[in-house]
Amino acid sequence: MLGIVAALPQELGDLIADMRAAGDIETVTLGQRDYTIGDAHGVRAVVTLARIGKVAAAATASALIHVFDVDAIVFTGVAGGVHADVQVGDIVVAQTLLQHDLDASPLFPRFEVPLLDKSRFAAAAGLSDALALACEAFLADQGDALQNRFAVVRPRVHRGLVVSGDRFVASHDELHALRGVLPDALAVEMEGAAIAQVCFEYGVPCAVVRTISDTADAAAPASFTEFLTAIAGTYSSGILSRFLRSRV
Ligand code: ADE
Repeated sequence: MLGIVAALPQELGDLIADMRAAGDIETVTLGQRDYTIGDAHGVRAVVTLARIGKVAAAATASALIHVFDVDAIVFTGVAGGVHADVQVGDIVVAQTLLQHDLDASPLFPRFEVPLLDKSRFAAAAGLSDALALACEAFLADQGDALQNRFAVVRPRVHRGLVVSGDRFVASHDELHALRGVLPDALAVEMEGAAIAQVCFEYGVPCAVVRTISDTADAAAPASFTEFLTAIAGTYSSGILSRFLRSRV
């Protein structure tokens, strides 16, 4: 069983509708979240919305592991671009994840999860490779159309560090502070590293894929809102359907 999670419904695209069309689904409500179990493009999956933030994400990952007995978790959604090379419409597949707002210094080094002796959590290589291939295939099929629609440069797939925190980053100062302390950070969001920490603690493979909705600057709130309503679902549906079919 694969756990598939997003924060918000727009970030799941058509996945639940596709599961309903493919056959019987079962919905279990737990901790104020609906978990939908069924066939997702040929893969047995449980799909849910974590809502926003690290606590919400960690609680959801914990339920997926302990109640639904998932073998792996994939998180999909949008993120703010942090690295100068990462543009709106690009896709980032996490190789490692870190909580950028975790700071128990001077007791522990900044970003380190106290008593775990770790600040960076690795995404599972096999799942991440398959996601990156699905992203490349999606952009090969849809990249021209997406570029025309957004008038941005042709979207690209990046792989590397994704940072998470309980803040929507939307200012030049905060963006540049993040770039200063974490020069290899590609994207910022609010859940991925929490999922990665829980999965590490329980030995469950996880992967995170994020489409860039904004560049974490003063224009981020408007860019995020427009991207989320207009296009995030197209990306998620296109990526997840290709990824899931490749697992069958
Ligand atoms: N998710 C999408 N854009 C984001 C941003 N700028 N900060 C945090 N999370 C985000």
